[in-house]
Amino acid sequence: MTTDPWWASETFWRKTAIWVTAGSFVVLVFLTFDSMSQITAGTRRVPAYSAINHRIEYRFDEQRHVQTPVIGAEEPLFGKKLTEQEAEALVEKGKLTIQAKNCMSCHTLLGNGAYYAPDLTKAWLDPFWGSREVREELMVAFIKDPSDKLHNGLGRRMPRLGVTDEEAHAIVAFLKWMSTIDTNGFPYNFKPLDQEG
Ligand code: HEC
Repeated sequence: MTTDPWWASETFWRKTAIWVTAGSFVVLVFLTFDSMSQITAGTRRVPAYSAINHRIEYRFDEQRHVQTPVIGAEEPLFGKKLTEQEAEALVEKGKLTIQAKNCMSCHTLLGNGAYYAPDLTKAWLDPFWGSREVREELMVAFIKDPSDKLHNGLGRRMPRLGVTDEEAHAIVAFLKWMSTIDTNGFPYNFKPLDQEG
């Protein structure tokens, strides 16, 4: 009678399957907690929503060789300082509007979306908005009605999407907050609006 080698036995493979599944499960649980700590607002790379009460600056990090966000002096969005809860509600409304209007069918946000139109991840910092003083109102006006606004010579026009005044304000809050996220310098080569002074 021939005996099968140990690695050919059914019990061995059954045990192996159980251990590999159990091991992968533990690793997945660990990675889920690790990811949550990297993507939750109020953590090292993703600032709290109340960051929209401040000026967002960028500094070149010599060690990492990327532009990194710095939450600067107080500079409330639309001149109104918000509590953490108010800021969260506004940013959330902006995010929901962006989803409802499907802005990602043309734009990219945080690596998701399309490349027909400019990446919006750091749109808050686009030098196109001219100066810090007029930027937020120009953004609101542009989002509500982009059709007659001259933009960056891309040769493409953004359509009117029926965004209300309130929704446009919330979108700008979301865009400002998104610009505070440390994205490892992504999108590569964005040029921040004048930050000094
Ligand atoms: C049909 C495609 C399309 C959709 C959908 C769209 N956009 Fe745009 N968007 C564009 C194009 C094209 C431009 C560039 C326009 C230009 O250069 O004149 C643009 C430009 C912008 C800019 C200026 C970007 C910068 O870097 O300065 C912002 C902000 C913006 N869009 C926000 C939005 C928001 C918010 C939504 C959803 C409510 C949206 N867009 C939906 C096509 C689109």
